[in-house]
Order: sequence, then structure tokens, then C-alpha cells
Amino acid sequence: MHVLVCGGAGYIGSHTCVALAERGHRVVIADNFSNSAPPVLERLARLTGQAPDARRVDVRNAAALAALFAGHRFDAVIHFAALKAVGESCERPLDYFDNNISGTITLLQAMRAADVRRLVFSSSATVYGEPQSVPIDEDAPLSSTNPYGRTKLVMEQLIGDVCTADPGFQAISLRYFNPVGAHPSGLIGEAPNGVPNNLMPYICQVAAGKRERLQIYGGDWPTVDGTGVRDYIHVMDLAQAHVHALEKLDGVRGHLPLNLGAGRGISVLELLRAFETASGREIPYRIVDRRVGDVAEVYADPSRAERLLGWRTQLDVDAMCRDAWRWQSMNPDGYAET
Ligand code: NAD
Ligand code: UD1
Repeated sequence: MHVLVCGGAGYIGSHTCVALAERGHRVVIADNFSNSAPPVLERLARLTGQAPDARRVDVRNAAALAALFAGHRFDAVIHFAALKAVGESCERPLDYFDNNISGTITLLQAMRAADVRRLVFSSSATVYGEPQSVPIDEDAPLSSTNPYGRTKLVMEQLIGDVCTADPGFQAISLRYFNPVGAHPSGLIGEAPNGVPNNLMPYICQVAAGKRERLQIYGGDWPTVDGTGVRDYIHVMDLAQAHVHALEKLDGVRGHLPLNLGAGRGISVLELLRAFETASGREIPYRIVDRRVGDVAEVYADPSRAERLLGWRTQLDVDAMCRDAWRWQSMNPDGYAET
């Protein structure tokens, strides 16, 4: 298929572009590089044997999108382009509403104008807010606890409304749980700006000696060892899920939300120990107060995605840690030095 990948230069998008190329799909990347770096394109070329067709395009720019759609006959769009930092979204909510919601509206309008009616959308487990029980299935109540989460909820609703209004529009929203890891080559991975907010990149930087120690947010949660439990999923598994979703879109009626997770919870201490084994480095840590807005346990019931996509996770926590550490070791400053 001929696919427009918005946000394809980012962490999950870049891995997905490799998986798409390996399956023989033709990809055009549209990215404004607000949270990615053009050197990733050279890495993609090394991995796929072909320079990617990438354009510096902001999805809020209707004219630029119209030109892109006019020049290609896309079969589908995969939409990764969004701002994603929870803390920042609380400080700059309007930037998040504008980038994420306005960007999605502009993209949907451009798709309609070009008669492209198949979409795979990057959603998040954040749409479940504070879950009432685990594992979480797709029928669990939806809510939001911060502006970032609200943008994901609204974007899903917009897509659902477009599908209702136009029965020919086919969309899958993939609700990712906790994506971690990197391509096993060590050529592409997650390159956070500044201090990482999320656990795995923070552990990587402690192991690399860039940060002194991990702060574990709470040791008194009602969990297996008192630390927070999450559903980590290898980004390579996530990338494969996008390929499956794209190829199944044709059989979808309306808007289909699907959880992407491994379906089992891992505690902060369990992840830390697995990382120590994978890296051979000790990770100093200190248990501190709980982080505002955190919850004890979040993990998916991924059975609907498994059934409807014919996909399931293949890579375990050891592979997640090994690949994250390889990426960190080979690229101590992310893409900065290429
Ligand atoms: P990322 O920041 O690495 O990738 C997003 C890409 O979109 C970046 O390359 C950025 O430059 C681009 N972008 C942002 N706004 C844009 C705009 N207006 N126009 C064009 N390009 C734009 O993030 P990621 O981790 O790869 O996440 C991809 C998607 O998955 C996002 O929608 C994110 O909200 C969602 N998601 C991520 C996680 C996670 O933990 N990484 C979890 C759940 C959902
Ligand atoms: C993050 C996002 C959330 C998104 C989810 C899945 C934030 C604040 N939240 O939350 O919107 O839906 O990923 O993509 O970014 N931890 C520490 N020390 C740290 C960092 C994290 O102990 O320095 C703990 C947390 O308390 C949590 C676990 O590690 O128990 C995972 O944290 P994180 O990687 O931030 O993911 P989520 O909390 O799931």
C-alpha cells in the first residue's frame, strides 16, 4: 500500500516505517521535526536500503497537506504526529490542543478532500484515565486526567464522528500501553529531549552515567513489591501491530479502538533488575514520594487486538532492556552526533 506516515520521524513512527518497508509498503513521511531530528532519516536509509521519502510538513498546514495529497494517491494514513509530554501539557495546554487536535482536524479534512478514507491513529492507554480495574479492556470507561490525555480522547472522538458521518471511512485507534526498547540494530530508538519523564529512558541515562540515580515514585503502592506496575511493550512489537492494523483496515467498519500491550504487569523494581542483568550495570535508586497523578497498576487486556489483528507481542522484558541499552550505548547523545 501507499501510506502517508505523519510523525514518521519520531520514536514509534521510525520503527513503524522500517516494518512497513520490510513488508513492501511505500511510505511518505510528513513530520515537522518538532520532536525528532532529520538524521533519523539517514538511519532509516541504512535499515531499509533506500532513502525515505520525507517532507518537512506540519499537519496543521492545510496547504502543505493538500499539496502532499495532490502529488500522491495514498491508500491510507498512519497518524503519529502529536506532542506527548504530560507535564508540559499541563503547563501549555493550548499548544497541545492546537498541535494535537487542530492537527488532527486539518489532517482529516485533507483526507476527505483527497478521498483517502483509511486511518491508523496513535492513541494511548491514557484514555482510560485512572482505571477502575485491571486488566483494562476497550469497553472500560474513558476519562482524562491531564490536557495531553484530553487531546487523545478528543482525537478519538473526532475520528469516531467522522466514521459515523461517512460509513466508508475506516479507522483503527491503537491504544498503546508503555512503549519501550529500540531496533535491535541500535540505529534507531527513543531520543528524549532534556530530562526523561518516563521510566525506561531514565534508567538508560542512569546506566550511562548521565544521571546519578533513579527516583522511584512510591514504594507503598498495593502491588507485588510496592512499586508501580505497568504494561511495557517492545517498540518492535508495536511497529508490527501497525502493519497488521494497516492491512486489516479494509475489513473494519467505522472506528475500532484496540489495546496494544503485552497483557502483563511489570513493577518498577522488576524492570530495574531486568535492566541491570541486560546491561551488566548497577542502577542506583531511591524511593521517593508518589508522583502526582500516578496509579498503582495499569495493564492491558490485549485479546481484542490479538483476535482482530492476528498479532501478539513476541518480545519479553529482557529483550526490551537489552535493546534499549544497546541504543543508549551506541548513541549516548541520541541522534545529535550523526
Ligand atoms: P515522538 O515525539 O517521538 O514522535 C512524534 C513525531 O511527530 C515527532 O517526530 C514530531 O516531530 C512529530 N510531530 C509532532 N507534531 C507535529 C505536527 N504538528 N506536524 C508534523 N509532525 C509533528 O513520539 P512517539 O513516542 O513516537 O509517539 C508517537 C505517537 O504515539 C504520539 O501521538 C503519542 O502521543 C502516541 N503515544 C506515545 C506513547 C509513548 O510512550 N511513546 C504512548 C502512547 C501514545
Ligand atoms: C506514561 C504517561 C502516560 C501514558 C503512559 C503510556 C507520563 C507522566 N505519563 O505514564 O500519559 O499514557 O506513559 O504511554 O508521562 N517511574 C519512576 N521513576 C521515574 C519515572 C517513572 O518510578 O523516574 C515509575 C512511575 O511512577 C510508573 C512507572 O515508573 O509507576 C512508569 O512510568 P512512566 O514511564 O512515566 O509511564 P506511565 O506512568 O505509565
